[in-house]
Amino acid sequence: MSTLLQPLDVTAIRKDFPLLSRVLHGKPVVYLDSAVSGQMPLPVIERMSKYERDEHTNVHRGVSTLSQEATDFFEAAREKVRKFIGAGSIKEIVWTRGTTEAINLVAQTFGRMTVKAGDEILLSAMEHHANIVPWQMLAEEKGATLKVIPMNNAGELILDSLDELITDRTKLLGLIHVSNVLGTVNPVKQIIARAHARGVPVLVDGAQAVPHLRVDVRDLDADFYVFSGHKLSGPTGIGVLYGRLELLEAMPPWHGGGSMIRNVTWEKTTYLGAPAKFEAGTPAIAAAIGLGAAIDYLTELGLDRIAAYEHDLLAHATERLERIPGLRILGTAKEKASVISFVVEGIHPHDMGSLLDGDGVVVRAGHHCAQPVMTRFNVPATTRASFAYFNTRDEVDVLVSSIIKAIELFK
Ligand code: ALA
Repeated sequence: MSTLLQPLDVTAIRKDFPLLSRVLHGKPVVYLDSAVSGQMPLPVIERMSKYERDEHTNVHRGVSTLSQEATDFFEAAREKVRKFIGAGSIKEIVWTRGTTEAINLVAQTFGRMTVKAGDEILLSAMEHHANIVPWQMLAEEKGATLKVIPMNNAGELILDSLDELITDRTKLLGLIHVSNVLGTVNPVKQIIARAHARGVPVLVDGAQAVPHLRVDVRDLDADFYVFSGHKLSGPTGIGVLYGRLELLEAMPPWHGGGSMIRNVTWEKTTYLGAPAKFEAGTPAIAAAIGLGAAIDYLTELGLDRIAAYEHDLLAHATERLERIPGLRILGTAKEKASVISFVVEGIHPHDMGSLLDGDGVVVRAGHHCAQPVMTRFNVPATTRASFAYFNTRDEVDVLVSSIIKAIELFK
């Protein structure tokens, strides 16, 4: 049997996640909220703890053995990221605090450099606020406008009008790879090709994609690709901006300070090249090393095996949830990752979330930082279950029973 076809040993994997043994309200915890934040396996926690215990100091500073060692670990993590997403050079991997900071960085550097009054920024109808607000702020400052690629009732982008939506004034297309609300996997490669045919660069928000799919930024031909560590079985406080080197080199720095300069005088400062010029100040060293360990962990499991396993969970959950009278799933795209948002007639999503919590089932309820998606589907909020490689079909069944119990309560 090829490695690809060998199933994941989920019983063994679950032992790496201490939180999964917790009891909430007298019930075993069922963690179905990996889209809000993934859980970190022990090897990641232990790697970060080893750095803090035995290796802690600053990076890129001084000649001490400790500093050189920490710098090596920190830069090795950058190389792991490079390889993980198929980038051509570590110069293209910029550490940020997360997806949100990465998009703000691009908006405030590349965006400010290229967007002028009357220009347009094209986004999709299913963007997270992180890929809306920074562009809206920039558009307000510059007198530019935002345009939106619409979506259908299944939560798939309507691409027929893409060629008309892209105009000579379009300076950037911002696109979510996998919707955090609907689970839709967007055909980013095809969209990027169409944008590039018109000379428009594309920023892809990959926060919900990298935990579920194999991503190759060169194959996608993305200009910018951003994601967060904590959705990828890593820690919070660390994220990645991938940018094509010629774009990063052409962009001005954003934050000024130590570590990003070549030379400082009272008259003038000159800057280092990418990625250092975007990394002022002491970085999140333990978090970066932890993210490297998370990538090792996921690589060992195999992204393809993870995707196949999660797909099975998604199919099982969809089939069981669809049978519940009064329950409506938002997002029924043909290509979906393991995220299910739903509403139940007569029960507010927050009440549903609280009732599930009482059964130890952890989900997210709310607008999921995507209010335009709520408006599009004419709901104030949804309840969302998101499945990871450590979840089981039995846990999906606990979710389903708990929803049925909640519906009974509201009758
Ligand atoms: N973006 C995260 C979510 O979808 C916080 O829940």
